[in-house]
Amino acid sequence: LADSGDVVPVSVGGQSVLLVRDEANEINAFYNVCRHRNLQLIDETGNCGRLIRCPYHSWSYDLCGNLKNAPYFGGEANALPPDFQLQDHGLMPVKCAVWHDWVFVNLDAEAPEFENFLQPILNQLGDNDVADYQPVATIEFGEVKSNWKLLMENFIEPYHVQFVHKTTTSQPLQDHYPIIDEHCLGSAVDLSEDQVASAGEGTLGVTSHYLTLFPNFVLGTYQPDQLGVHLNIPLSAGVTVQRRVIYAHKDAVYSEQKIQQIKDLWHSVHLEDHAICERLQAGRHSAMAAQGGVLSPHWETSVRVFQELVADAVRPSLQK
Ligand code: FES
Ligand SMILES: [Fe+2]
Repeated sequence: LADSGDVVPVSVGGQSVLLVRDEANEINAFYNVCRHRNLQLIDETGNCGRLIRCPYHSWSYDLCGNLKNAPYFGGEANALPPDFQLQDHGLMPVKCAVWHDWVFVNLDAEAPEFENFLQPILNQLGDNDVADYQPVATIEFGEVKSNWKLLMENFIEPYHVQFVHKTTTSQPLQDHYPIIDEHCLGSAVDLSEDQVASAGEGTLGVTSHYLTLFPNFVLGTYQPDQLGVHLNIPLSAGVTVQRRVIYAHKDAVYSEQKIQQIKDLWHSVHLEDHAICERLQAGRHSAMAAQGGVLSPHWETSVRVFQELVADAVRPSLQK
């Protein structure tokens, strides 16, 4: 979405939403549906120029979603039926906010202001300003055969790190602590200079904060100069798509070789987590899993809160 007219279709909670950059350089989000007969408007990422044109009967919308033209709708080329106002048939907007490099959308028009929603993760970041970081690499993981919530739960608990990431990390369990700050959940590990110096070659052995914003935004900070961001995008109940973007501090100098090493490390770490989450997903189909399990009152408190947030989020629709 770098330029005016750049448009991207995304799936949000099973709804198709289009994101577009307008001529005032703002990013807007709309339901990806023509207001005439509800055709899905944008089917691939691209640039639509100054208008989003429906291929069916050529209704066209400007980049702010206003309907500009509904040709022949009233009979003649520019005729409109009596009582039909173009301004009543613009694209249906979706709440949208941008934080640094990331676009957040919320289908709930009553959702709280994003600035307030962001506050807990800003508190956790402290004086580490994400605006100082630039993307240097992307890893596409494609589809993981696991529910997105299992991937989130796995990310926010430190208990598994010593076992699952035995060869890829040098972060002792006892130096971790869970993070529970409203809907910013995660864990962190603070390492001494000696621990960092003695970390295994090619492993992750730095002070790291594994943060999330409910429901599915993930942001890790890795001292002194790296961020990693990924989304757990649900495709279905059993399939999630992941893409990780690696960011470097603007004052850091990353060689091509270093970037490749970082990519290789994160590729390995994610694959270790995917294998576990796919087995978790399989295990949840067992009749025995209906009883649920147990959570460590010390290491998995953030998982407990995550599950409560999920329950709070789905309860209203279950009661309908
Ligand atoms: S459905 Fe879009 S113009 Fe007819
Ligand atoms: Fe992990």
